[in-house]
Amino acid sequence: MRRTLATVAAGLLLATAAPIDDAAADQLEDGRKIFALCAQCHGDNAGGNSLFLAPAIAGLGSWYIEAQLKVFRSGSRGLHPEDVAGMRMAPMARTLRTDEDLAAVAAYVASLPPTQPEREIDGGDPERGKTHYALCSSCHAVDGAGNPAMNAPGFKYASDWYLLSQMQKFRAGVRGANPANPIAAMMGPMSMVLPDEQALIDVVAHIMTLSK
Ligand code: HEC
Ligand code: HEC
Repeated sequence: MRRTLATVAAGLLLATAAPIDDAAADQLEDGRKIFALCAQCHGDNAGGNSLFLAPAIAGLGSWYIEAQLKVFRSGSRGLHPEDVAGMRMAPMARTLRTDEDLAAVAAYVASLPPTQPEREIDGGDPERGKTHYALCSSCHAVDGAGNPAMNAPGFKYASDWYLLSQMQKFRAGVRGANPANPIAAMMGPMSMVLPDEQALIDVVAHIMTLSK
């Protein structure tokens, strides 16, 4: 973010490069302060903690982090009565009172170096998962980097237990069934294409092999 702004500024008008860069630095500093709350569950390095059901969020794009904070805040993600993890996160998003605060913490998280969460799920067959992943790659990319134009997040640095939990929630209509969240609704049918629970575990095992 900071580099993009600086590059644009340099290209357009060198004289304004410094103030724009300062603004980006101020935003990151604001985000760093707000992140103290987030770190209680997601960890100081944003690498996640399965004991708190809090996923790794380092390595996600700021566009996706912002979008998810907004849907948690508005209540179109995380308020389903069976969504235990979502109900922990939704009130946290509501502490972000302004869009500026929300954008600042998203920019800060996106500026952190990605982590490599430990594998916690056994029993997946990455070869079988690779076959299933062919469909997924049309939105999430072959290498798992995601595609902002499709609103599809990257998950190269994701926690395996979290990916599995989200696939289970999409299948059960616990995530993605709120009509106010049409982007999440896209994943429901995609999760149903996988034949059974083992296929979910296999596809997650494949995602874990994607090069970092
Ligand atoms: C009380 C613990 C807790 C705190 C504090 C917390 N989170 Fe979360 N967060 C969670 C849990 C649990 C989930 C998983 C929700 C789910 O499974 O749907 C989550 C999910 C997320 C996601 C979605 C990740 C994805 O891949 O879709 C983002 C982004 C996020 N949190 C950012 C933040 C930010 C930013 C803050 C600070 C403002 C924060 N969280 C504070 C527990 C917490
Ligand atoms: C048509 C495009 C599309 C296809 C195909 C697709 N997805 Fe998605 N996926 C999305 C979008 C968009 C989101 C973001 C949903 C949201 O904003 O809540 C998403 C979210 C996810 C998430 C949640 C990630 C997170 O950080 O919370 C997982 C896991 C996932 N997809 C797995 C898969 C798998 C596995 C497949 C193949 C079986 C697949 N997707 C196929 C578009 C797609």
